Amino acid sequence: MSVPPFALRPPAPRTTGPDGPVEVAPGVNWIGALDPGLRSFDVILKTSNGTTYNSYLVRGSEGVAVIDTVKADFTDAFFKRLEEVARYDEIRYIVLNHLEPDHTGAVPELVRRAPQAEILLSPRGLPMLRALLGDAFEGANVRPVTTGHNADLGDRKLEFINTPYVHWPDTQCTWLADARVLFTCDLFGSHFCDGRLFEDQVDDFRLAFDNYFDRIMRPFRSFVTSALDKIEPLDFTTLAPAHGPILNNAPRDWLARTRLLATPRRKADSAEKVLLIFYVSAYGSTAQLAQAIHDGAEEEPGVRVSLFDLEGSDIGPFLDLIEEADGIAIGTPTINGDAVRTVWDMLARLVDIETKGKLGAAFGSYGWSGEAVRLVEARLQGLKMRLPEPGLRVKLHPSPEELEEGRSYGRRLAQQLTGTAAPREIDFAELAAR
Ligand code: FEO
Repeated sequence: MSVPPFALRPPAPRTTGPDGPVEVAPGVNWIGALDPGLRSFDVILKTSNGTTYNSYLVRGSEGVAVIDTVKADFTDAFFKRLEEVARYDEIRYIVLNHLEPDHTGAVPELVRRAPQAEILLSPRGLPMLRALLGDAFEGANVRPVTTGHNADLGDRKLEFINTPYVHWPDTQCTWLADARVLFTCDLFGSHFCDGRLFEDQVDDFRLAFDNYFDRIMRPFRSFVTSALDKIEPLDFTTLAPAHGPILNNAPRDWLARTRLLATPRRKADSAEKVLLIFYVSAYGSTAQLAQAIHDGAEEEPGVRVSLFDLEGSDIGPFLDLIEEADGIAIGTPTINGDAVRTVWDMLARLVDIETKGKLGAAFGSYGWSGEAVRLVEARLQGLKMRLPEPGLRVKLHPSPEELEEGRSYGRRLAQQLTGTAAPREIDFAELAAR
């Protein structure tokens, strides 16, 4: 009997986990939830290993603190584990290191069950908390905290470290010095569900760790580096993230791995500027224009120019190049009033890297209306790139004069990078009027 082509795989054994809480350190328990079936996170990220929502409970001589919660679908598991280690009237603090819904699904109900608890979060998390709690926000006991602030639990205390943009503006870490545990929320996370929880017990999750960084943290890697600079001096033995394995065996190795992932390979102070030109060409016209722009840009000293046919590679390696580049120019024909799919695929992936402030430009050949160039420009502007030159369009095949204009266009882009031309920037109003 043949196997149906779409037969569901049975869940791997590792996706089963402990029914109750799990001790992470003396007086510190994991009370989170396993989500082995998740296959897409935040719609955009494939999660073939599922994920976990790690929540922690810290017990002191004068009360307990709950650090982060779980996604809304998993609140039953969270409350069940919580109730095994604490009563609601013992909860003195609810610490929200980050307010994305995968960590705050149980917060409204937790606040209802523990109304005396003080909610501690970064100031930038306040609008999110207000939206999350609705009418209950006004009656809630809320204290914004930042670096230098702490929360007293009697014989131990929690200290807060402001680490914005890892991965939202509101993110912070919470340090429990006596146990040498740092609660890092998304930072050092991985979408990897293994019920054994600890890094030295779970399956190999290095690929999940790196992929998580690439798709979640990479656009914020300068903020990641700043956060690591604050974390590195701490004498931690455990990094307790909100997703994936708890890093209790070689946490400094994971910090070093994260720093490596966050470090640009090209020196920020490199004197040479890098301009990348990408194109897709249906009949060779956009390719000719791309070559002309390339040749013109190469005439400017101090600029290294590279030309790529987008059809010739997967997008991933191009992202690595773009991340290190100072500027990109994208060429596309207009087909059915739009840029072509390959170009959109690359533009969609640019959210995974830092693009703010890079130079952007668009060009292309068209037959009738030529909307594609303007659409690409709008996208580049949406990515907060700097567009100094209105896009270059040619009807059908470029004439010798138009190819010369292409070379001039390339020179002007390159001069914007070297600073030999006065900085300028087009705006949407100008684009719309053209
Ligand atoms: Fe795991 Fe940014 O939420």
